[in-house]
Amino acid sequence: MKQIDSEPLYRDGRYYDNQHRNFKSDIPFYLDQARKYSDPILELACGTGRLTIPIAKEGYNITGLDISEGMLDKAKENARKKKLLIKWIRDDVRTFKINKKFKLIIFPFNSIAHLHDLESIDSCFAAVKKHLKDDGRFIIDMFNPNFKRLIRNPKKRFPVDKYTDPDSKATVVITESNTYDAAEQINYITWHYKIGKKEFSYELNMRIFFPQELDSLLIHNGFIIENKFGGFDCSKFNSKSEKQILICKLK
Ligand SMILES: C[S@@+](CC[C@H](N)C(=O)[O-])C[C@H]1O[C@@H](n2cnc3c(N)ncnc32)[C@H](O)[C@@H]1O
Repeated sequence: MKQIDSEPLYRDGRYYDNQHRNFKSDIPFYLDQARKYSDPILELACGTGRLTIPIAKEGYNITGLDISEGMLDKAKENARKKKLLIKWIRDDVRTFKINKKFKLIIFPFNSIAHLHDLESIDSCFAAVKKHLKDDGRFIIDMFNPNFKRLIRNPKKRFPVDKYTDPDSKATVVITESNTYDAAEQINYITWHYKIGKKEFSYELNMRIFFPQELDSLLIHNGFIIENKFGGFDCSKFNSKSEKQILICKLK
């Protein structure tokens, strides 16, 4: 299995939270899924609890699992502030072992893109199958690849975000450049940060999943795709859809 290379980017959960402060559009969708399929719920690659915490706040029993200590530290702090009891597990989505089965396992916000090779994907799906109840559901959300973004000029930088850091009050400007390797299907992205006078960069390399391929990977790993949505409004997936949201159950 290839090594996970996103660790430096996710070392400090504070950056992640500040950057995603306004991203909430997937929360109502996941609350609906929790209502529909009930708990216990496992969130794979839960990060700082951006989704885990609103789900727990509605009274669901949810466990968050992530490989990054920095993201989990921030998740624990965020949950403590809201007085929520959530079980956090530091583990790898490809090899985790929990002595429990779940009604719902979610793998949200393009996190599957961190699995760069077939062995990692197969191993993750095998672990999911071991932890899913017979009548449980597994939900993945991943963007639908946009060719224009993949073939951009690698020498150019494109805007990602600009905001005021809540602690230092410095302006944070994030831009990105990328090179797509069509054989590996990996988009090698660099995020360039400028915070006041400080400049640094992180790799955010993403495995690209084409729609028929993602379906095939799930089917060949023993899942039935019950539904495929193109957005959090549960619209049917089509060629213009921005998202691939797959609701799967065991074969
Ligand atoms: C885009 S963030 C998503 C966080 C959260 N689910 C959300 O929706 O805000 C991706 C997360 O994947 C985690 N991650 C990457 N590779 C992983 C692996 N092999 N096992 C567990 N977590 C992993 C990172 O540490 C990071 O927290």
